[in-house]
Amino acid sequence: MEFQEKIRRKKGKQKIIMLTAYDYQIAKILDGMNIDLILVGDSLGMVVQGRGNTKSVTMTDMIYHVRAVARGAKNTPIIGDMPINSCNTMEDGLRNAKHFLEAGAHGVKIEGNRPEVINALIDARIPVMGHVGMLPQIAETYRVKGKKPEEAEAILRDALELDRLGVFSMVLECIPESLAKKITETVKTPTIGIGAGRYCDGQVLVINDMLGLDENFKPKYVKRYANLNKVIKDAVAKFMEEVSAGKYPDKEHTYH
Ligand code: KIV
Repeated sequence: MEFQEKIRRKKGKQKIIMLTAYDYQIAKILDGMNIDLILVGDSLGMVVQGRGNTKSVTMTDMIYHVRAVARGAKNTPIIGDMPINSCNTMEDGLRNAKHFLEAGAHGVKIEGNRPEVINALIDARIPVMGHVGMLPQIAETYRVKGKKPEEAEAILRDALELDRLGVFSMVLECIPESLAKKITETVKTPTIGIGAGRYCDGQVLVINDMLGLDENFKPKYVKRYANLNKVIKDAVAKFMEEVSAGKYPDKEHTYH
C-alpha cells in the first residue's frame, strides 16, 4: 500500500508518529524504529544552522539534508519541507517539489494555504502534507495562533481548504487544543500536531528539541525525552580530563 494511504487509514485508529531528521545517522536510527514519517524540516535553519528563524533556508540547503537523510532512511517515507519562496508560483512549486523527489523525498510539506500550488502538485501525483496555524515562514514572532476568534476561523478555513484539495496529512502548529480538536473532528485528512494538544491524529517534534540538545530552548509544548546536552557535556568533560591526565589513549585504544 502506498504510504499516503497508510497514513490516511490511521485517522481515528492509530496515532501517526513523525520526527524531524537532518542527517544520515539520526535518519538511520529513526528508520530502524518503524516511525511513520521523517520530516526534513526547514527548522534546520535554526537547529542545524543556528539562525533565529527559518526565513533564510534555501532549496540548496534542503536538498543537501534530504540527500543525507535518504542515505540513512531506506524504509521510511521522507517528507521534504518546501522552504520560504520555493513555491511562490505554480511553476516554482512543481520544479522544486521534483527536486525534493529526485533527492530522495517521497513527498513535500507546504506551509499555509496555497491552493494553486498544492493543486498542481497533487495533479502531478506528488504527495503533499499541509501546514496551518503558526507558520514560521511568515510569523513575526513565534506565538500561539488562533486564540482570537477571527484567527481561529481563518485557520479552520485554511484546514478545510487543504482537506478539499486532498493533502494526505496536515501539520497543526501552535494552536489552542480546542481548535486543533475541532479541525481534527471536521476534516477527513489526518492532522499531525506540534504544540496543538492531545486530540490530533498524530504528533511531530523537532528531534533536537525532544532530545534536549539546547538547554535554553524549552517552549511549553516540548517534552524532553532525553537530556543530550548533559550527556554530551559529561562525555566531553571526561575526555578532557583523561587526555589531560594522560589516561587516554590507554593500551586498549592503541594500535600495537
Ligand atoms: O520545519 C519543521 O521542522 C516543521 C515542524 C515543526 C512541523 O515544520
